[in-house]
Amino acid sequence: MKISSFTEYQHIYQQSVEQPEQFWADVADQYYWRKKWDKTLEWNFKEPNIKWFQGGKLNITESCLDRHLETNADTPAIIWEPNDPTEAHRVLTYKQLHDKVCQFANVLKNNGAKKGDRICIYMPMVPELAIAVLASARIGAVHSVVFGGFSAQSIADRIKDAECNIVITADGGFRGAKDLPLKSVIDDALVQCPSVKRVIVLTRSHTPVSMIKGRDVWWEDEVKKVETQGNPACPAEEMDAEDMLFILYTSGSTGKPKGVVHTCGGYMVYTGYTFATAFQYEPGEVYFCTADIGWITGHSYIVYGPLSQGATALMFEGVPTWPDAGRLWDIVQKFKVNILYTAPTAIRSLMGFGTDIVNKYDLSSLTKLGSVGEPLNEEAWHWFDENIGHGHCPIVDTWWQTETGGFMISPIANVTPLKPGYASLPLPGVQPILVDENGQEIQGNNVSGNLCIKFPWPGMLRTTYGDHERCRQTYFSTYPDLYFTGDGCLRDEDGYYRITGRVDDVLNVSGHRIGTAEVENAINMHSSVVESAVVGYPHEIKGQGVYAFVISPEKHESEELTRKDILMTVSRIIGPIAKPDKIQFVTGLPKTRSGKIMRRILRKIAEGDTSNLGDTSTLLDPSVVDEIKDGAL
Ligand code: WT7
Repeated sequence: MKISSFTEYQHIYQQSVEQPEQFWADVADQYYWRKKWDKTLEWNFKEPNIKWFQGGKLNITESCLDRHLETNADTPAIIWEPNDPTEAHRVLTYKQLHDKVCQFANVLKNNGAKKGDRICIYMPMVPELAIAVLASARIGAVHSVVFGGFSAQSIADRIKDAECNIVITADGGFRGAKDLPLKSVIDDALVQCPSVKRVIVLTRSHTPVSMIKGRDVWWEDEVKKVETQGNPACPAEEMDAEDMLFILYTSGSTGKPKGVVHTCGGYMVYTGYTFATAFQYEPGEVYFCTADIGWITGHSYIVYGPLSQGATALMFEGVPTWPDAGRLWDIVQKFKVNILYTAPTAIRSLMGFGTDIVNKYDLSSLTKLGSVGEPLNEEAWHWFDENIGHGHCPIVDTWWQTETGGFMISPIANVTPLKPGYASLPLPGVQPILVDENGQEIQGNNVSGNLCIKFPWPGMLRTTYGDHERCRQTYFSTYPDLYFTGDGCLRDEDGYYRITGRVDDVLNVSGHRIGTAEVENAINMHSSVVESAVVGYPHEIKGQGVYAFVISPEKHESEELTRKDILMTVSRIIGPIAKPDKIQFVTGLPKTRSGKIMRRILRKIAEGDTSNLGDTSTLLDPSVVDEIKDGAL
């Protein structure tokens, strides 16, 4: 939505709060619906029950692909830059992407996929990943993309939870200097997953893989079969607005990751609207989001949001620091990128390499910058502004979550006056409030509290897959009639929001969400570990690091080897992204008389601030605190 001034934003915002249904109905009108909805919204946050655009019929791929064919068939939809800069890049126009999606949708059908099936996608960042996602949506199947950094065990857990019957993967992938043995990881996962009847394998790395007769087929062979069948078209499956579009697993403060469910209509409306609004996207602009499609950022702001707006999205297979720390700037120069959307952790890590490398590149095409994943600290904000935006690009610091589907609190480029460190103001249609411990709304400005949302928005999660009660418990029971985000937040004298970080036991490591309980469970699986406690600590580049306190009386050979064994165990159980940065061996943990670990104390020690540990008198054995303090890393 074009917004030309701050006053206009304020006006639209006001309207969106006074008449939310009218507001979202007008936005929804800008998409392609087979049949218009009968009822814009039905909701309560008690159960919760949230239904947007009921009675509406659509297929999201028709808004993302088909509707652009008449006028924008030859506009690039996806520009793909490989990991290795010496390999050729690829461009897929809307017409080409449409055709490839239809073709692969037919491959899926030939392999027995049908509406409602769950399809697990475990792929490298190549265009075929976007094609697989869209093809799944085209036939009305539900995709569950698993990030390439998760272990076989994590994949198996996700496949079992969603009862997937098809897996789409690749022989291997490349990320920086690393080779990802994707198919081999899938083979390990599938030992536990009898529900999977078919594995479709893309050729990417040309590494040897095992192909099991009757189960595994090559992507390329299947595409050839469709070609020889001679009918490349694949009419889109008609979906109800509230039919499931995808599941994406995310970590919480307890137990195993939960499958966040998004539905077709609301998610389509919300991602396209927020993309166009926050970035004020103009036709022809080249937009580069550095996220992986394995995370919600890639789903909403590489695939669905930009494509529904007919935008040109740049997709990058590699990492910002390989072959050197100029990789992102090289890409910006090469494709004359206009909008760069990245993460604080990437900015901070590139900051460390200095500006000489940045200044080798022509970044004059850039007009807008964006950030997501964690608070963008002021130092990084200014570095990004001065050295990358050269002082003339607004920085859109977008606060949102896997569960929200799209941006919630964010500046609007060239409209909202910026403040470093602030996600600023809610987008139209979003109603945030701050509450105190008792759930009382904290009114006025210059206050802080827990961030909640008090009215539904179309992109919000509908349930957690297979366990609606868990969804209610996690998000809607802490404060009655509110959606609780899990974040702490302050609202300054101008009503601007600044996210201060999670208030639950969830860590944010390099923008990745990691549950402390999950890491503890993984560490505790190691044979010589009796108990462990995991907390976060400030980390210069990652934002937060993982600090593990571990009780392991009988170490194998040496402390160093046991430490490495524990890291290996966590890698195997969750994935390398959850590996603790520090492991401190202790003989006891600070527990209360009722057996609860006092994490507050451990957090302080991990932060290196032991001057004031607060009241330790309720501890069962206060002496363990001294020991832990003395051994702190
Ligand atoms: C959590 C959500 C949304 C895509 C990436 C992460 C933190 C996210 C910001 C921001 C401060 C942020 C919050 C949130 N977060 N963006 N701009 N400023 N904090 O998605 O894995 O679902 O994590 O990331 O703590 O709750 P996610």
